Amino acid sequence: MAASTTFEPVLERIAEEVERTPGRGRPAGYIPALAARDPRSFGMAVAEPDGSVYGVGDWRRPFSVQSITKVFTLALDLAREGDALWEHVGREPSGNPFNSLVQLEYEDGIPRNPFINAGALVVTDRLHTRTGDAAGELLAFLRAESGNPGLGFDVEVAASEEAHGNRNAALAHFMASYGNIDNPVPVLLDQYFRQCSVAASCADLALATGFLARHGIRADGTRLLSRSQAKQVNAVMLTCGTYDAAGEFAYRVGLPGKSGVGGGIIAVVPGRCTLCVWGPGLDERGNSVAGVAALERFTTLTGLSVF
Ligand code: DON
Repeated sequence: MAASTTFEPVLERIAEEVERTPGRGRPAGYIPALAARDPRSFGMAVAEPDGSVYGVGDWRRPFSVQSITKVFTLALDLAREGDALWEHVGREPSGNPFNSLVQLEYEDGIPRNPFINAGALVVTDRLHTRTGDAAGELLAFLRAESGNPGLGFDVEVAASEEAHGNRNAALAHFMASYGNIDNPVPVLLDQYFRQCSVAASCADLALATGFLARHGIRADGTRLLSRSQAKQVNAVMLTCGTYDAAGEFAYRVGLPGKSGVGGGIIAVVPGRCTLCVWGPGLDERGNSVAGVAALERFTTLTGLSVF
């Protein structure tokens, strides 16, 4: 891939600043397979709509994609079923942690948005019904968009999540009691844990997110989403992509973004570029400390933001 001379100096400056930052948070402890990651690791990549990509630090090193996959399953399902999806999942910020149960009972088993765990389970369930293999569909999409056929599931991470998956199982069973889950819960959980376990690098994910900067157009020039749907996915990322920290993220970074407890965050500058940062140390809301700081510096230094 061609290197971008536009972004190279900015990324190098950000990497130097991050290197000097002492506090980096802690890796996710509730998934034991993720707990051993070094919080001082850092990588950042930026991809342009023509597929050129440039990065710094550990930008080619695979990490656990986790909740970032929720953007891709949302896009894949929306492309198939369109607005009917929104009868089963909302698009309002929850103001609660990503794995919270509390709103589900008041709101009749309809999760607030597709990025909290409950909403992502609904999306994966619907994608699985439509494709027969939601996780496989996701993986094929990520391989195609990143141009990296080596992407795969991390079976150790998936098994670790399954072994500690009572919270997700509770969410899925509870929504099933309202008729908002089609597949047997164990089938859905297996799909969801494999989905979350995908391992990919900053370079892979910056490229795979490109369709959101290209207003719905995939890397091969075909259309996945309408222009309007791409706008909608970006809007839901802005308002819900970092859970109960979405307001703070929008304030600091000013871009649609989606985090994962593996320490990655993707972000989109529509029409201009996509970004992926990785630093496994998290804040108390599950967002990468170095990642948010790096994105904040990127938008400040370049002046690129949606505002
Ligand atoms: O279901 C879970 O709890 C994890 N597989 C994903 C959570 C996650 O990445 C939340 N992100 N910040």
